[in-house]
Amino acid sequence: GIKLAVVGGGSTYTPELIDGFARLRDVLPVDELVLIDPAAERLELVGGLARRIFARQGHPGRIRWTGDLDAGVDGADAVLLQLRVGGQAARNEDETWPLECGCVGQETTGAGGLAKALRTVPVVLDIAERVRRRNPDAWIVDFTNPVGIVTRALLTAGHKAVGLCNVAIGFQRKFARLLDVAPQDVQLEHVGLNHLTWERAVRVGGEDVLPKLIAEHGDTIAADLHMPRTLVERLGVVPSYYLRYYYQHDAVVRELRTKPSRAAEVAAMEWELLRMYGDPALDEKPELLGKRGGAFYSEAAVALTSSLLRTRHSEEGGDVQVVNVLNNGTLPFLPDDAVIEVPATVDARGAVPVPVRPLEPLYAGLIANVTAYEHLALEAALKGGRDRVFEALLAHPLIGQIDYADRLTDELLAHNREHLAWA
Ligand code: G6P
Ligand code: MN
Repeated sequence: GIKLAVVGGGSTYTPELIDGFARLRDVLPVDELVLIDPAAERLELVGGLARRIFARQGHPGRIRWTGDLDAGVDGADAVLLQLRVGGQAARNEDETWPLECGCVGQETTGAGGLAKALRTVPVVLDIAERVRRRNPDAWIVDFTNPVGIVTRALLTAGHKAVGLCNVAIGFQRKFARLLDVAPQDVQLEHVGLNHLTWERAVRVGGEDVLPKLIAEHGDTIAADLHMPRTLVERLGVVPSYYLRYYYQHDAVVRELRTKPSRAAEVAAMEWELLRMYGDPALDEKPELLGKRGGAFYSEAAVALTSSLLRTRHSEEGGDVQVVNVLNNGTLPFLPDDAVIEVPATVDARGAVPVPVRPLEPLYAGLIANVTAYEHLALEAALKGGRDRVFEALLAHPLIGQIDYADRLTDELLAHNREHLAWA
């Protein structure tokens, strides 16, 4: 039988995942699910609801929970990582101090994203090492942000890991709805790095319907991205909403300065969600969870895990899914050890990128720049030191000036000392 472990299982997001496992049990028949989290009280609330969701849907799988990582991952076929070092409080900081320097405050992009990477990489590598010691064959599926840098850390350390984000599956579902076709009939030509991607083509039955989508639904698509329709028309591709932090950086900074942080919003939602999870009558994922950014992440997780665990190989029809994977020449202008986010053929041997058409300089330039930043960010996360933090910030296309990089380095260190062993 299939055994899965979820690290960060006490997350308020977990019922979304459980709902996916319950609905999609033909794709991924889970026999045992272990939720692992150091926050005992949350784990109790989330675990209780998880069991009720399985029971309501008649799912025979067993769910248990523990604070003991080593015991929890024992015998797991796959381990899903969805943790957040420092919780929403640390995220709130990441979203706040960069704004004072006139830079975007965001959990994965810019200086805030670097802070998150520095806090997270050592924790994730320690967990992965412990997983490998117990189960050398287990797959690690990483949703832990910043997914690009964390996945690069895992792969560089030789772990059996794949990084996953819901942006691509979100577009696939959105476009399917607009086109009135089934999601599995929509293939995206998705390219870039995690949270730095563009949809270059949208294929239905082999035909690229992206020009038609933009012409007929440009307003809807642009409204979702909070970017002007004319941008999408001029580019002829659909950028992810994370590109707004680049294409409209200063406008976003002005806007963020006038409102509460996303972390504060999410923290309020989490209180409400936990209160709901404690109600023994609740046995499905509440609608409020739909207000979080993680829509469809359970479906992406089920599809990926199922492909990684199945014994048939891709010659017999592997699945193509958008994942974070080693570049290995796919984008020839990047080093082989960069991690890119592209469609890949996934089976029990792992994820192999589908070849990518030559990329226009407009996208290649930014991708190369952010890849260099990610390389330096990982160096800083692994080795520590003020100079390495400064270099990563100087290399970031949204920062790039020495006085900003210096100030942001000081702020980052001042706000993260308790999480950084070397600071
Ligand atoms: C999207 C991104 C995730 C991110 C989430 C934030 O799903 O792909 O990487 O964690 O949004 O959502 P939240 O509700 O926490 O702001
Ligand atoms: Mn993501």
